Amino acid sequence: MFMDRKEVAICPVFYKQGRQGCGRSFNVRVIREAVECNDRERALRREAESLLERLCHAQQESEMALINLFPNSMVVAQLKAIVEYQDEYDPATGRIRITGVIQEGVYRHVINILQLLAELTEQGLMATAGINKATLLKVAIFHDLAKIQPRLEVGDVVDPKEAFEPGQLHAFRGASLVRRVHHLEQDIVHLIKYHHHEERELPGDFPPHLLSMHRLFRLLDGLSAGITRRGSNVNLKVNGTMLEVREESAHPAYNRCLELDLYSGKVELKSLDHWKGGVSI
Ligand SMILES: [Fe+2]
Ligand SMILES: [Fe+2]
Repeated sequence: MFMDRKEVAICPVFYKQGRQGCGRSFNVRVIREAVECNDRERALRREAESLLERLCHAQQESEMALINLFPNSMVVAQLKAIVEYQDEYDPATGRIRITGVIQEGVYRHVINILQLLAELTEQGLMATAGINKATLLKVAIFHDLAKIQPRLEVGDVVDPKEAFEPGQLHAFRGASLVRRVHHLEQDIVHLIKYHHHEERELPGDFPPHLLSMHRLFRLLDGLSAGITRRGSNVNLKVNGTMLEVREESAHPAYNRCLELDLYSGKVELKSLDHWKGGVSI
């Protein structure tokens, strides 16, 4: 016996079964979509993991290539023995709380500077008059060799001015060390000696032909500190004697975008969204 439309509409059993049937197909569709979504997520995660693995491998390979630049294993061991710290600054007290200890921190810092230099070489900066790649590589490797760090642990709260010695001290010790022990050239000694001096603090007899490299090295030193201690992402772009930099990290206070003219020393700060293109380190 068949029911006409009107009867179907008023038959509660058929009406209920019809609704349930509709609900089942809806549920199946939702479950199928959820499973497909999970499959897509798993595939994306696998892809991301393999990309990360390839990146780590590439990073290890580039580090292996850079290690050949070090003069000997003693210098590598000396750099690896110096830790760096991650910290949080409390503006109310002027004190810092140690949040992490970076083992082999100074070695990592040097490797990061060498990677920045490799990127600048790739972009042609070393062809600029006044910029010498061999000098910069040696300055990068030796500049913090005489650094002395206090022994601190995660959770320690200290006044940084009391706990850490001023940077200029290890710069002076380092310059003396590379001159007497490693017999490096005078230009390298000068750049190491004054790597914690701002340009206006330089002595009157600082060689003017080193000014461009002094500006460049101080910039790279600061950028590498951000990469090493704050996991910053740095983009560089060479435009003649002009260096464009974009630095971004989890600590927005350190984010910056600037242009440095290596010849005049003029620095122009830009907003972060000013950046267009460039290569990320
Ligand atoms: Fe230093
Ligand atoms: Fe440094």
